[in-house]
Amino acid sequence: MPRDLLWINGETMPAEGALLPLEDRATVFGEGIYEVAIFYDGQPFMLREHLERWEQSAAGIELVSPGTLEEREARICALVEQSGHLDALVYGQLSRGHARRNHLFPDPLAVAPTEFWIVRKAPVHKPECYRTGVRLVSQPDERWAHCHYKTISLLPNCLAKERAHRAGGYEALLYREDGTVTECSSSNAYCVRGGVVWTHPATNRILEGVTRQAIMAAAASLGIPVREQAVTLEEFKQADEAFISSTTMEVMPVTAVDEAHIGAAKPGPVTLRLREAVRARVMRECGIPQAETA
Ligand SMILES: Cc1ncc(COP(=O)(O)O)c(C=O)c1O
Repeated sequence: MPRDLLWINGETMPAEGALLPLEDRATVFGEGIYEVAIFYDGQPFMLREHLERWEQSAAGIELVSPGTLEEREARICALVEQSGHLDALVYGQLSRGHARRNHLFPDPLAVAPTEFWIVRKAPVHKPECYRTGVRLVSQPDERWAHCHYKTISLLPNCLAKERAHRAGGYEALLYREDGTVTECSSSNAYCVRGGVVWTHPATNRILEGVTRQAIMAAAASLGIPVREQAVTLEEFKQADEAFISSTTMEVMPVTAVDEAHIGAAKPGPVTLRLREAVRARVMRECGIPQAETA
């Protein structure tokens, strides 16, 4: 029987009911970084890329990530195996540790960082969403200037997603004051215009998704041109096709934004080719036989 497991600072225990010290800097300051990675059939998909981004995010907020990437990778794989979950979602978080509340960083020689990893069953997105495409609801991008670090301070993301959800949207499509689209609250955003995929460049204004990397590689091998340039919300709404991506969704077609239909209001051909290519890579790298997938 699979069980949800937690590894925290060297100890493994059931994930249910585990506690963090009250004055961990993650709880009092929302200070820390995180990663979300996925396993299929017991095999990781692009785990290395997730762990590389973990190190970049840690360095970006002056947080020393203990140990090496290889040690972390081995530990996560062992934890997933121990959990018994074959299709598993792993969530990892790192903070500067717990110390009496003070904005100044604690002395790293006196206070150890808090690192934990939780393994759970991977979520399954509704197959009809992939068939019909989803609706996005636009929301102002009110985040800070370092969105390229995967930090746990996600209040603007949560507000945007909640408001989009209340308005009947699947995700929040974020736009900046100048009207340009950045990404979604927990996924990257793309539109297709005249056969070209447009997406915001990987600057400090977006999180460069690991799935985005897979999409870029798939587009290159399929000969689909990609333009890393921001478009306005109006341009996005007038696109021929649109889609969003994340680790758990892979490529999700978008068929409406606010009240506007995108293209023919059904998943477009470029979107479907990219979805299929990313799916095929997942199956190849995780050793899943073709027949097992939805
Ligand atoms: C703001 C944001 N953008 C993009 C992504 C997609 O990243 P990935 O493909 O690595 O899951 C996420 C995932 O959590 C995210 O939070």
